[in-house]
Amino acid sequence: MAVLSPHFVVSFSTKTTTNIDTDQSALLALKACIVSDAQKILKTDWSAATSVCNWIGVTCGSRHQRVIALNLSSMLLTGTIPSQIGNLSFLTSLDLMNNSFMAFCRISEIRSDMFEHLPRLQVLSLSLNKLSSEIPMGLFKCKELQVINFEYNRMMGGILPKEIGNLTMLRILRLGGNMFEGNWMVF
Ligand SMILES: *[C@@H]1O[C@H](CO)[C@@H](O)[C@H](O)[C@H]1NC(C)=O
Ligand SMILES: *[C@@H]1O[C@H](CO)[C@@H](O)[C@H](O)[C@H]1NC(C)=O
Ligand SMILES: *[C@@H]1O[C@H](CO)[C@@H](O)[C@H](O)[C@H]1NC(C)=O
Ligand SMILES: *[C@@H]1O[C@H](CO)[C@@H](O)[C@H](O)[C@H]1NC(C)=O
Repeated sequence: MAVLSPHFVVSFSTKTTTNIDTDQSALLALKACIVSDAQKILKTDWSAATSVCNWIGVTCGSRHQRVIALNLSSMLLTGTIPSQIGNLSFLTSLDLMNNSFMAFCRISEIRSDMFEHLPRLQVLSLSLNKLSSEIPMGLFKCKELQVINFEYNRMMGGILPKEIGNLTMLRILRLGGNMFEGNWMVF
């Protein structure tokens, strides 16, 4: 822990340190949550025999060789999003748009779990899926978020929580085409 910056220690005070093996198990957990992969992309390409940094849709940072971006948009995937995604602690961009992701695995934990340890997340694009949860509260801890896109899902819930104001970097918030209730602020 000695080499970590104070911010990092605070963020992970209840966690052990993570490394590329953590990233690999997080991605393998995602693969295990895919029930249909029509193009067999993950099935053939996402193999523990090669480094995750070479897997389709995965980008690693050149300096620290950790997963910084995951882009599986428009890949005809059906499945759920496991909470282990929250272990990709260097992730800056998560783009799963235009698939059939139906839920976050372990829905009861979604409120705090998955997004709580993604302090670097800047782009979250989950539009055009079949997500049916509420907006995860852990999201409001991702202080670097600039883009949130949940458009065209089946998401529910009422008024936006005031914690939205914590996301001071937010530029784009797309929530249309869902089943939200109540009056929504216009951004
Ligand atoms: C993901 O990949 C698609 C297709 O290459 C691209 O259009 C899109 O901009 C990428 N998403 C992000 C967040 O970079
Ligand atoms: C969604 O994905 C399908 C299959 O890859 C593709 O044909 C379609 O153009 C995509 N739509 C959008 C809006 O990206
Ligand atoms: C990865 O995520 C799971 C589920 O959120 C958690 O139980 C586990 O402790 C995490 N592993 C690491 C190494 O952080
Ligand atoms: C939002 O910011 C306030 C004040 O900084 C803080 O007390 C609160 O815990 C934050 N909420 C979340 C969900 O991060």
